[in-house]
Amino acid sequence: ESYDMGGHDTYMHKEIVEQVEAVDRVLRGRIDDRFATVHLGGLNLDPGEARRVRRIKILGCGTSYHAGQIGAQLIEELARIPADAEPASEFRYRNPVVDPDTLYVAVSQSGETYDVLAAVQELKRKGARVLGIVNVVGSAIAREADGGTYVHAGPEVCVVSTKCFTNTVVAFALLALHLGRIRDLSVADGKRIIEGLRRLPGQIDEILKTEPEIKQLAKQYADARSMLFIGRVRGYPVAREASLKLKEVSYIHAEAYPASELKHGPLALIEPAMPTVAIVPDDDLLEKNRAALEEIKARSGRILAVAHQPQEKADHTIVVPKNEDELDPILMGIPLQLFAYHTALALGRDIDKPRNLAKSVTVE
Ligand code: G6P
Repeated sequence: ESYDMGGHDTYMHKEIVEQVEAVDRVLRGRIDDRFATVHLGGLNLDPGEARRVRRIKILGCGTSYHAGQIGAQLIEELARIPADAEPASEFRYRNPVVDPDTLYVAVSQSGETYDVLAAVQELKRKGARVLGIVNVVGSAIAREADGGTYVHAGPEVCVVSTKCFTNTVVAFALLALHLGRIRDLSVADGKRIIEGLRRLPGQIDEILKTEPEIKQLAKQYADARSMLFIGRVRGYPVAREASLKLKEVSYIHAEAYPASELKHGPLALIEPAMPTVAIVPDDDLLEKNRAALEEIKARSGRILAVAHQPQEKADHTIVVPKNEDELDPILMGIPLQLFAYHTALALGRDIDKPRNLAKSVTVE
């Protein structure tokens, strides 16, 4: 991969398409089939230390923060360690309790975002253990951290992050699997996750083949002034990132909400001019999510679903291939990157350099 546009009109499009090889690269050489685990050489965390971690706190900004939210869920699911993600700037300014049994993870594409770097430096000053999940090799955050893992997404030029988001989430899945197999994740579950990870590049390729259909859908929704994105548990951070992507590149106002919270406010917004994008994975919450679609439809809301099977209540469904429940969030956001891209294209936006935004924010 290079900085060359390689026949694409924008870097964003090139980088979305590059996800097949990027995900292949973050997995390469790391899977250990014999012990149903992965090797992350740069982690600098021996098994004894890994067993003593009582909590994981993930810090990042923008898209990296959203990748961290999915990462926190993966860590809780696979390693059963309480984990959460917080914007690095919020963390810095609220005088957080720095606990010796907590492992801190700083997430950054560039490795130079000032708020993340300053949070890492403050944590280090207080004696905390900090890992980095970073794309740019040798960057400031990678150098400051005690250890970590590179996400190997390759150069990302477009201001809005796509392939680095996906690779960061995959890197979190690797970290979660690694920690899980040192703790209580069974060999059978380790194998199941490994097989799921191996299926990802091929499944991303399948999703990319649906681009002509997504392009048509984007044209139909591009007249919206505002859009609601909903998801539940695993689907919620996917909805948040998809909503961010749409507002960054298309300038359409978008808001993400947990599907379970609809009745506590957002339902008041539903009318034909306010479309909803719903993340509907085929997991144990499928029926709950279908009930949310019914509530929206009963109020004449337009619905675009991203799901593993066509949704009867939705006006349109983008069907994505099914992976393991824990890994589905990695795939479900990808069609919505294409949706944001084609919406912005239909509206004639400056896709690679949205107004008022910078690729990395190296000032306070
Ligand atoms: C800026 C970019 C975002 C990015 C965020 C964090 O706001 O426009 O796309 O997600 O910074 O950047 P980082 O390099 O730390 O991941």
